[in-house]
Amino acid sequence: MPLTASRGVGRVLPTIAPNILNTGERSSDQGALHFAPYVTMKEWPFDMSMIPYGRQNISEQDIESVVEVLRSDFLTQGPKVPEFEKAVATYCGAAYAVAANSATSALHIACAALGVGVGDRVWTSPITFVASANCALYCGATVDFVDIDARTYNMSVGCLSEKLKEASKAGVLPKVVIPVHLAGQSCEMAAIAELSKQYGFRIIEDASHAIGGTYAGKKIGGCQYSDITVFSFHPVKVVTTGEGGMALTNDPDLGKRMARLRSHGITRYPAEMTHAPDGPWYYQQIELGFNYRITDLQAALGVSQMRRIDEFVERRHIIARRYDQLLEGSDYIVPWQHPETYSGQHLYIVRVPRRLGAARHQMVFENLRSGGVGVNLHYIPVYRQPYYEAMGFKRDDFPNSESYYDEAISLPMFPDLTEDQQTEVVRLLKAPTGYQTLF
Ligand SMILES: Cc1ncc(COP(=O)(O)O)c(C=O)c1O
Repeated sequence: MPLTASRGVGRVLPTIAPNILNTGERSSDQGALHFAPYVTMKEWPFDMSMIPYGRQNISEQDIESVVEVLRSDFLTQGPKVPEFEKAVATYCGAAYAVAANSATSALHIACAALGVGVGDRVWTSPITFVASANCALYCGATVDFVDIDARTYNMSVGCLSEKLKEASKAGVLPKVVIPVHLAGQSCEMAAIAELSKQYGFRIIEDASHAIGGTYAGKKIGGCQYSDITVFSFHPVKVVTTGEGGMALTNDPDLGKRMARLRSHGITRYPAEMTHAPDGPWYYQQIELGFNYRITDLQAALGVSQMRRIDEFVERRHIIARRYDQLLEGSDYIVPWQHPETYSGQHLYIVRVPRRLGAARHQMVFENLRSGGVGVNLHYIPVYRQPYYEAMGFKRDDFPNSESYYDEAISLPMFPDLTEDQQTEVVRLLKAPTGYQTLF
């Protein structure tokens, strides 16, 4: 079974290659240049017989597309990047798309394009990957979290409304809110957009999990209720480019600004320059940007993958419905789908109810891992991360996120998951754990 990249709890099943996680620190005791990996060699190689929680599906056509670029004149900054941007923008119904080398980069330039800076506040969900919050810190802003809804695990509109009321009184309203479409299910965007009008904040949808899904009958990414939507193309996601991300918008100024920030803040448009170009070679850096460019190799893979996006999402839904059926009548809580949403179905998250005992969650998790299933937990609430904890967040302020963290497990979910593998996952899930028989 090929190598699988995954995220999150990596202690039992290390899932990130040491060669990409090394710190490059010098080891003083050896005196020589020594790379100190976070994942030790003892944990390497990965157990290839594990059923992973997610993995890419790469066709011969995908491979051919990348090879074609290798034989072409442009490995980067060639025609494939705009082609990929156009494919995603057209699919989602957005006017502009800016591809980047990760969703993290796309979130950063999205915040920067909206003018997020020192003294600003950005709110997001605590049940997300750290990137949804880090992007605001990169801009010098402060971050706060809005607790999740107990049924969707997305940012709760009720909690957001309450928090905005209080923030308004205290004069500390957010400049940007970043709702995260966890597992691929859209947040309640119409209600969030209503609040944005009332309180004057901008919206970035972190749709890293959600390409291929819909909200209120429209494709996620069309930015009907937001300023910008961001996708991730990490290999465990619905569509992959290896690493990669994209920011979509309907606002031409935001589109232009994000494209500029992706590449050092440099413009080649005379209209944006401080004076007429010195010559045909001329460009100007007019603000501080980054090198967040994606390569043509990656974009070619993205273009090829986009041809199969609906197939991927349909397959994920078939797997999800089968999990629903297999778990019917068990004590596990299966995902609830908001009637206005069709999920991109990046993840399938079950919950082990706390009423079954505080230790049960961990026992079930460990039972699956030791049985060869690479389950995961998406996510450790961001405010629990030491870096954020040091900012003074209190766990009691997020009761729904806390109980979610005590109960959630992401089961394997990827197009090539076989029925036999899925049956085995559910068998282990229902198998007795520890001393007591659960089900
Ligand atoms: C919700 C969410 N936001 C942002 C990211 C960052 O994506 P990337 O790895 O493409 O930078 C991830 C990746 O796991 C994610 O799950």
